[in-house]
Amino acid sequence: MAVARRIDQLLSGGSLIRRMFNQGQQLKERYGADNVFDLSIGNPDLSPPPEFYRAAEKILGESIPGKHAYMNNAGLVEVREKIAQRVRREQDVDISAGGIIMTVGAGSALSLAFHCLVNPGDRVLVPAPAFVAYRNYLSVHGGVLEIVPGLPDFSIDLNALEEMIDETTAAVIINSPNNPSGTIYPEKSLADLGQLLERLSRLHGRRIYLISDEPYREIIYRKEPVPPVFQAYPHSIICYSYSKSLSIPGERIGWAAVHPLAEDRDKIVAGMTGATLNMGYTNAPALMQRIVGEIDGCAVDVERYRRRRDLLADGLREIGYEFELPQGAFYMFPKVPRGYGGDDDMAFCERLVEEKILTVPGSGFAMPGYFRISYCVDERIIQGSLPGFRRAFETT
Ligand SMILES: Cc1ncc(COP(=O)(O)O)c(C=O)c1O
Repeated sequence: MAVARRIDQLLSGGSLIRRMFNQGQQLKERYGADNVFDLSIGNPDLSPPPEFYRAAEKILGESIPGKHAYMNNAGLVEVREKIAQRVRREQDVDISAGGIIMTVGAGSALSLAFHCLVNPGDRVLVPAPAFVAYRNYLSVHGGVLEIVPGLPDFSIDLNALEEMIDETTAAVIINSPNNPSGTIYPEKSLADLGQLLERLSRLHGRRIYLISDEPYREIIYRKEPVPPVFQAYPHSIICYSYSKSLSIPGERIGWAAVHPLAEDRDKIVAGMTGATLNMGYTNAPALMQRIVGEIDGCAVDVERYRRRRDLLADGLREIGYEFELPQGAFYMFPKVPRGYGGDDDMAFCERLVEEKILTVPGSGFAMPGYFRISYCVDERIIQGSLPGFRRAFETT
């Protein structure tokens, strides 16, 4: 056998998100793109803000020594200093450029964190509903992702989490604003989580780290910002990405911030920095680092996502679907209509495919009985999908 065994596993797995996306491509070829309502994938359609292009042009035109050269694996120090300023402001901790590692999106920030914290066989826990690509990132390090059952309001079930934590638990991941539910975990729930992790780290004689996956930090529909996880628990790592805030997922740029008081902080920072080599990319793309350094804090027009959210919410509510109104990100996670084969999300999403509507079954986020609608698409697509949502609802 020429190919590694893990590749067979990888090829036979495949995420439900990708499966729906591929199904969408086939439908579009058959019926024409305008006749298919693809609400399956979180690939934002908004253009990056004008500041992004202005910064890119400026930097490309400037003469900067070593503009395209290799650099410290952690990234350009002047860019990391800018990001440290932002993290200081948002998290109210004394972090410097030395606590920031530039990464290839959130995916690589998470992967680097796992690289440092997870031994083969270690468990990493995540509350449902969850973005289960964490499993892919973890599998490289021999770690096992386990799902903490979710509550109907999508808050973290601390009792269930406590029961699952033992001495093999390396870390807990949270993702807020959440993909797929759009939930923002409140400050109190983060504080309770921090206390629990502190108590259980002592009990099991092993530091349990908190990894906060925050690619949707700026995409929120309320005034109060996402609560600072660094205030809740010092043994935390934030994984951030510009994929969604600047609408540039293909450019692959983000960062990780390690809390200055995290246990083994120096080793973690050095480990995450060195591990970029193990991951095979050495450092995050130089040009993108310089651009985000210029415009960090800038984001796409979130009001456009709010309008789409409201259009979808009004339409689905009127039909009779049940859902929590998303507080952030650009996904809605309604319940499968009552009486639809119990709560068979796979069958319901297949029914929607008959209406040429592509969504993702909740099973793809470890929460069957729900389905995810991605609304980072043109309003016409949302509007056009509503009659199909109605027919599917009425035939349950
Ligand atoms: C919750 C969550 N985490 C991580 C990622 C990966 O982000 P990136 O493209 O920056 O690697 C995504 C992408 O959709 C996501 O939704």
